Amino acid sequence: MVREVADTEVWHYPLPPPYETLLEKVRGVNGLLCLITDKIDAHLMDVAGPELRVISQMAVGFDNVDVSNATVRGIAVGNTPGVLTDTTADFAFTLLMAAARRVVEGERYVKAGRWQTWGPTLLMGHDVHGATLGIIGFGRIGRAMAKRAVGFGMRVLCHDHNCNKESARKLGAELCSLNVLLSESDFVSLHVPLNSDTYHLIGEHEMQVMKPTSVLINTARGPIVDPVALYEALLGAEISFAALDVTEPEPILHDDLLLTLDNCLIVPHIASSSVATREKMAIMAAENLIAGLRGEELPHVVHP
Ligand code: GLV
Repeated sequence: MVREVADTEVWHYPLPPPYETLLEKVRGVNGLLCLITDKIDAHLMDVAGPELRVISQMAVGFDNVDVSNATVRGIAVGNTPGVLTDTTADFAFTLLMAAARRVVEGERYVKAGRWQTWGPTLLMGHDVHGATLGIIGFGRIGRAMAKRAVGFGMRVLCHDHNCNKESARKLGAELCSLNVLLSESDFVSLHVPLNSDTYHLIGEHEMQVMKPTSVLINTARGPIVDPVALYEALLGAEISFAALDVTEPEPILHDDLLLTLDNCLIVPHIASSSVATREKMAIMAAENLIAGLRGEELPHVVHP
């Protein structure tokens, strides 16, 4: 799609371009289609020069892009909302169930040749039905998570400054303070964007408020959780389990202490990674880019 309308250079390598390489490549371009692994900051926009009209991010989150700086310069910034909502909520729920019912432990147990009999107390987990799910961030993905939880017979709490009681209630959720949500939930799932308000939103204090039996699920952005506090909380059994699709830093370092814990499940930022959804995201990102190159309004713009 993009090649039909513009001279295009594609970065083909599996690892992202180093920042310095990106700086060399952006000089004089009119548009940039980027991923969450690319840091698109003011300096890069300076180097790109005044011809840069559009930054199209192939993701719904855009904390790697300095949007306010782009706005000041009149550069349109696009993202891919909507198409990944259900796929991401499916995956957050997958992590919830895997944690509750000890799926990964069970798999390791079998492959290690330890399965000898059916046991009355073998790998007992916790019920999902009847449990309380706390959803922090009740936007598109948070609400899709609520629908799933209601279907599974869970009680759903939510916390979001931009949501009112009535709209939460329509989805079967109770709007409450962060403190109440943390203290009453068996599962806490994060669905807020990363910004200065949400950086390390879940830290030492919050994990002390959570139940010792509770499970933390993060499919949003790694830095929403303080990783040092998380390690201490998991080690000290202040919470029972964490299931993380995202980490700080990302990728997680090979010697990160979280990797030594059996009560921490970590997967490599794949919540939106279904064949159909990644294709839709790619097409949306291309459409945003092309609209920006043509000087038209982007179909999905992150700022007015
Ligand atoms: C992925 O993390 C996204 O923001 O789409």
